[in-house]
This record gives sequence, C-alpha cells and structure tokens, in this order.
Amino acid sequence: MSKNWRPATQLVHGGTTRSNHGETSEAIFLTQGFVYESSEAAEARFKGETDGFIYARYGSPTNDMFEQRMCMLEGAEDARATASGMAAVSAAILCQLKAGDHIVAARALFGSCRWVVETLAPKYGIECTLIDGRFLESWEKAVKPNTKVFFLESPTNPTLEVVDIAGVAKIANAIGAKVVVDNVFATPLLQKPLELGAHIVVYSATKHIDGQGRCLGGVILSDKEWINEHLHDYFRHTGPALSPFNAWTLLKGIETLPLRVRQQSENAARVADFLAEQPEVARVIYPGRKDHPQADIIARQMTGGSTLVCFELKGGKEAAFALQNALDIVLISNNLGDSKSLITHPATTTHKNLSDEARAELGISPGTVRFSAGIEDSADLIEDFARALKTIKA
Ligand SMILES: Cc1ncc(COP(=O)(O)O)c(C=O)c1O
Repeated sequence: MSKNWRPATQLVHGGTTRSNHGETSEAIFLTQGFVYESSEAAEARFKGETDGFIYARYGSPTNDMFEQRMCMLEGAEDARATASGMAAVSAAILCQLKAGDHIVAARALFGSCRWVVETLAPKYGIECTLIDGRFLESWEKAVKPNTKVFFLESPTNPTLEVVDIAGVAKIANAIGAKVVVDNVFATPLLQKPLELGAHIVVYSATKHIDGQGRCLGGVILSDKEWINEHLHDYFRHTGPALSPFNAWTLLKGIETLPLRVRQQSENAARVADFLAEQPEVARVIYPGRKDHPQADIIARQMTGGSTLVCFELKGGKEAAFALQNALDIVLISNNLGDSKSLITHPATTTHKNLSDEARAELGISPGTVRFSAGIEDSADLIEDFARALKTIKA
C-alpha cells in the first residue's frame, strides 16, 4: 500500500486486506469475537505479545479497513470508527478531560455537539466557555490556566462561518491544549485540519462519507500517542464501536467520495450564484463565493467551496416554508451530504432548541434556509428553485 497515492486512489484501495478467497470487494467480517488456536495463543493476544483481534468492541477487520483508509485520506497516524458522529465527538472530547478541566468552544456548533460541551461536560465538573470562534482574540481571551481542549466546527452549521484553524492551533499550542475539529461540513477532501495544526479530527461519516443516506457512523483521527494515551481505553470500555456492517457500507461509500463531493460542490456553487441574483433572496452565504465575509481565511485553509449553501429569504419563515414545500427535486430533510439534494429550515428543526437570542447570535433568522447539494444535474436543481421561488411570490 503506497502512502503516496492521491486521494481518489486511496479511497478505492487504501487499507484493503483480503481473505484467502481473494475477494475483489472488501469482505464484511460480521463477527463479535475471534477464536484462538490455543490457550497460550489467547494469553499472548491478551498480553499484547501477538497481533490480532480480540473482540469487536475493541476492533475488527472491516472496521480496521475503514479506519486505515480514513487515516490515509486525512494524513493521520491512527483512527477509531464509531457508531455515529456524536459518538465520535463525545468520545474525542470526554476521553481527554477530567473534573476541573476547561473547554473553549466556538458557539456555532451542531446542536448535539453544543449540548455535549455546554450541558453534559459541566455535569462532570468540566467547565466550558462558548465564544464567537470567528475572532482569534475571543479564543485568546477565553483561555484559563485549566484550559485543555479547544473545540470547533468549520465551516459551521448552518451559516457557514469559518474559523481560522491554524490561528486557533497556535494559541492552543502555546498553552499545551488540544484542538478538536469537527470537519463534517468541509469533508476530508476540501480541508485538512491536521495539516493546519489541529490535533484531533472528527467526522459524522453519516454525511458525505456514506453519502447515500444509509447508515450512521463516525470516526476520530489523531496521532498514535494521543490515541494510545487518551482514546484507547475509553473506546474499549465505553463501547462506541461501529457495526462491521456499517463499516463496510462506509468503505463502499468512500470509494466514490471525490466524485460526489466534486459534483456536489459544483452544484452548490451554481445554485448559490443563481440564488444571489434572485429578488426574494436577502443574502447568500457560500464559502466558494468572493463575497463570503471570511473569503481570505477560506482561501488559506480550504481547497473548495463546500457542498452546502445558506441563504436568507426576505419573506421570513412564511417564504422559507413556501419555498421548501414547492420544491420537487430538492427534498425537505435535516440531513446533509447526501447524493440527493436536501433543504432544511434551521430555526424550526436543527436549531429549534436554541433561544431566540442564541439563534440571532449565530445569524439564524426566520428566513434562513440551508441547502445541501446532491449530485443531480445542476440545471434541474436551478429550474426547481426558479419554479419554487415564483410560487412564493404569488
Ligand atoms: C457538524 C456535525 N457534527 C456532528 C453531527 C452528528 O453526526 P451523527 O448524526 O452521525 O451522530 C452532525 C449531524 O448530525 C453534524 O452536522
């Protein structure tokens, strides 16, 4: 296996191990346990003197292929596959903290991620400060002597703000804290947090990595030292392991990740440009457009514009609902990263649990809509939007 393969090749061949049948497609090892040739062999395996699997909660062959392939793509030394994106986020944060520690997190986080740092962590004596992650001064100001983890998402959900990952990593390194990046919105193809100085990257593999709306999954990637010191035991004993069947589904999904993300990003860019010209639309936020307020940071840290578009309708919630209801091809769903185009109204779905004030701080208004581009023909998507926008005018 060559580490020098380009991403498209890594995603088809990386990490593959074949059984003695020489199967073309990766095998699903749907097994809970493993048998040993002798008592001595079992003892040696448990002592760590010989390589091999012990129990599927610790690791298993199909999951191992998925983890290896993700490591190649991300440029990480090691990884653990989890049952969902939230299992990855909560394990990555909690495994390295104890009562008395402090987290600094950007306030623009996916709702469940925000709940983990804002509500769950304090129950265990872990303090959290939420800040406006767009400004490096906010990160600096929030640091305390007990700060151990910085947590951020970039671009953010749903308003596609970005955080200067290299800048945050510099501040973290100066105080010995670890930076955890939820890289779901960027995908491993459009942004490489580890190269920018982050220490741990997490994904909801449910999104672009599966990309076909089938199964939940997640992954945590970092260096071997961090995984051995913090995650290894936590992962084995708390049990967030991914099902081997889902690991296989995700392996097949990532074979086509570059094709899908390329098409989705092109579609997102075309739809963003179209929407920006429409009189019903107050503003469009798309990381690939020059008018994005943080275009300079995006140029430094991303290689593409993302597969998501956020826009605001002048007619508020009424217009947003009417537009969503009138779309034919684009489906109403709070999911994202699917090969089918999806649309959601954050204020009444994904971000409904936030206070009006917290939503306003994040720039989520009643007219805000999030579009997740699929792999359809962009001309059909634009026709769908053009027709649906006409209905809201009437
Ligand atoms: C940015 C982000 N992080 C984490 C998650 C959680 O992933 P999952 O639903 O796979 O648990 C999601 C979506 O649900 C998300 O959008």
